[in-house]
Amino acid sequence: MTPLERWQAQVRAARADRAENEEKFWEHFASWYDNWVRHNDYVSLVFPRLATYVSKSSRVLEIGPGSGAFTVPLARAVKQLVALEPSASMRQVLTNKLDEEWLTNVRILPHKVEEGLAELDGEFDLAFASHSLYNVEPIDVVMRELVRVARRIVILMGTGSEVAWQRAVYLQLRGKSRVLPPSFREFYPVLMEMGIYADVEILPTSYNYVYDNEDALLDDWQRRLQLDASRRAELRAALAPYIEPRGNTFGIYSVNRSALVIIERDRHLFASTGTD
Ligand SMILES: C[S@@+](CC[C@H](N)C(=O)[O-])C[C@H]1O[C@@H](n2cnc3c(N)ncnc32)[C@H](O)[C@@H]1O
Repeated sequence: MTPLERWQAQVRAARADRAENEEKFWEHFASWYDNWVRHNDYVSLVFPRLATYVSKSSRVLEIGPGSGAFTVPLARAVKQLVALEPSASMRQVLTNKLDEEWLTNVRILPHKVEEGLAELDGEFDLAFASHSLYNVEPIDVVMRELVRVARRIVILMGTGSEVAWQRAVYLQLRGKSRVLPPSFREFYPVLMEMGIYADVEILPTSYNYVYDNEDALLDDWQRRLQLDASRRAELRAALAPYIEPRGNTFGIYSVNRSALVIIERDRHLFASTGTD
């Protein structure tokens, strides 16, 4: 298998392992996700780096902004932001946030990146994707197009390592491991094969799931693990060793690794002409 075929096989295997498709999933989880972001540190770790790449005159493309964890601070820092977001529920959460902040320089296009790139006009100083490329089958087409339209591309993604408690709980309650979506492990070989040169930094990032009460925590994991109500007690027993009450909340706290991939077009072109 080529690196591209391995990426695509992983996209299809992860899709097949899910109870519902991407659009349906975010219908239930858009507001939940917005809350999840507040209890985790990836935005505070990555946004300061992004901020060094943009100015008040910058044009930015964001792929899969979700509920806007990066979109809102980016929009404050740049001239114009174009966002490709296929989920209607995520677009709603994001639009509400932008309205609350009186931010009018964000154009949201309701497309997947693989369908929306053709509609973009002009050049971008930065293209940014945070945890949003895992479901893109034609990743080679998308990357080639991003290198064409953006001077710099920054991508945050998982490294393919699963936090230990989730692996244990999935195995115990579903009898098999979850199929993880493609990650940096499959992505970097694709870039190499395409001759796209990237700087990479591996960051320890939190992976916290925090709830107002224990019932909310169990409801969420019952749904994720696709368990029926008769297995609630079993679920509670399996999660008990990991649950930590803190103040008025109940959470499961852990650290995972994320990959920050940075592609600079000028360096890439220089390298790919073979003049270095
Ligand atoms: C895990 S959320 C990440 C949201 C946000 N970027 C963040 O890091 O907080 C994934 C987002 O990517 C979007 N997404 C999934 N597939 C996509 C695709 N093919 N093109 C563009 N966005 C996509 C989803 O709709 C969702 O909003």
